[in-house]
Amino acid sequence: MTTPWWRHAVVYQVYIRSFADSNNDGTGDIDGLRSKLGYLNELGTDAIWINPWYRSPLHDGGYDVADYRAIEPRYGTVEQAAALIEEAHDHDIKVIVDLVPNHTSSEHAWFQEAINSPIGHPSRKRYHIRPGKGENGELPPTDWLSVFGGPAWDRLPDGEWFLHLFDHTQPDLDWTNPEVIEEFQSIFRFWLDRGVDGFRVDVAHGNAKDMTFPDLGEKQGELLEGAKFADHPFWDRDEVHDIIRGWRKVLDSYPGDRMMVAEAWVPDSGRLALYLRPDEYQQSFNFSFLEAEWDAAQMTEIISTACAAAADVGSAPTWVLSNHDVVRHATRYGLPAGTNWRRWLLDGPHDILDADLGLRRARAATLLMLSLPGSAYLYQGEELGLPEVYDLPVGVLDDPVWEQSNHTMKGRDGCRVPIPWEPEGPAFGFGTDTPWLPMPEWFGPLSAEAQAGDPASTLSFYRTAIAARREHLTNDESIEFLDAPDQVVALRRGSGVECWLNLNDHAIDLPTCEILCASAETPLGDGRSLGPNEAALIRR
Ligand code: NOJ
Repeated sequence: MTTPWWRHAVVYQVYIRSFADSNNDGTGDIDGLRSKLGYLNELGTDAIWINPWYRSPLHDGGYDVADYRAIEPRYGTVEQAAALIEEAHDHDIKVIVDLVPNHTSSEHAWFQEAINSPIGHPSRKRYHIRPGKGENGELPPTDWLSVFGGPAWDRLPDGEWFLHLFDHTQPDLDWTNPEVIEEFQSIFRFWLDRGVDGFRVDVAHGNAKDMTFPDLGEKQGELLEGAKFADHPFWDRDEVHDIIRGWRKVLDSYPGDRMMVAEAWVPDSGRLALYLRPDEYQQSFNFSFLEAEWDAAQMTEIISTACAAAADVGSAPTWVLSNHDVVRHATRYGLPAGTNWRRWLLDGPHDILDADLGLRRARAATLLMLSLPGSAYLYQGEELGLPEVYDLPVGVLDDPVWEQSNHTMKGRDGCRVPIPWEPEGPAFGFGTDTPWLPMPEWFGPLSAEAQAGDPASTLSFYRTAIAARREHLTNDESIEFLDAPDQVVALRRGSGVECWLNLNDHAIDLPTCEILCASAETPLGDGRSLGPNEAALIRR
């Protein structure tokens, strides 16, 4: 039996709004993405994951879907989407689309019908629309807070309340309603019929709610985080698994290795592995790796636990260091240990950032990630070493987090700034019109064109590292940790190839070996030592 493609794939995440703008309106689009398939091939991409491209008012970057069977006109049409899928396949690139089943946009026909229908109407039962508490129902049904800040309930003009775990334009669907279940199975089919190879499922740990609607009281969590305790009223409830199994059946009724990857912020590796059972998801992002401190023991522990938990259920781990929701890893690693990077964006102080150190560590951590068994997800622009644009003026912010948190959280726009393709021009080759988010002047030298011919560039490093991974590290899933000095991660894969990551601020000796790939901008001197914050793939 051949190994399914997703088990060791390098998946490149395309935030379509910011990737490439073919019609020069300041917003990325499907044809822009099509024009870059050659670039993605050259990088060594096995698959792309495209952030939601459906018709949407874009109040939450497209995670507010108004019509799951239509493409947002700013991005293109369903015909263009189908052509993209076909052309990607011609390039040997699989296509994963993003599905958002926890909530719709408030502009979705279902929600419009619900709020324009009288209390008690069946169309209201597709959402969590309920009477409030208090003498006149003037208090929300529970004390739950939205992930973006503020209460998770909004009141309708007729006095009932609707639940939105995210923005108030993203009402949560009621997954106990069979109509909701059927509708999403049909949406899965719609895109499978158009040839997609997989789905990244949004808020995969959130669909099931405790239908007794208890208050959280003291147990309210930090914003944007999943459950930290059992039996949470909306995160990681056992009932989500029945919903998932229904989707999996649909996928399995199609030929080929169609897959689903869960966006589930479930910190407990045992609970996370439940999503990976043979009749559920094929993959679930390991966010603990992304959140790990620059600490060898912590990283080793996270990697070995994740590998063991995935193996227990016959799956393989899924790694990620950056995405459209977190501060880019080239910046995170340049912040002092313990900095809360989400809050640092707004609260600073910004002069604590050591950008050079951040990039050095980011390249090293990437090489470690690419050396691991399982699949690795890259976020557009990380191959250029793009840092977070942390100083976007608040006047241009688009992320609903900024408003919804009452200006206490800056949000995620700093990692969503359009990609610089060329060293010059008004939008650095992203397009020609003013981009939807401003691109900083210093983006020019980081552009893909500026880096392509430079062997020391981050782009060249990514190309080499992905090629080395393909050649040496995708044939089996075994991993063994080696004895190593303090603050060093050293592991050996089945092929005998080792990855060494030096987290110290001084160089360490390597065993006598051949260096296959190194994260450092300048090649290692004698091939015997590994500089601080550097990693290497070696063979003895
Ligand atoms: C997770 C997505 O990645 C994020 O961008 C979005 O805001 C929330 N889910 C809500 O859909």
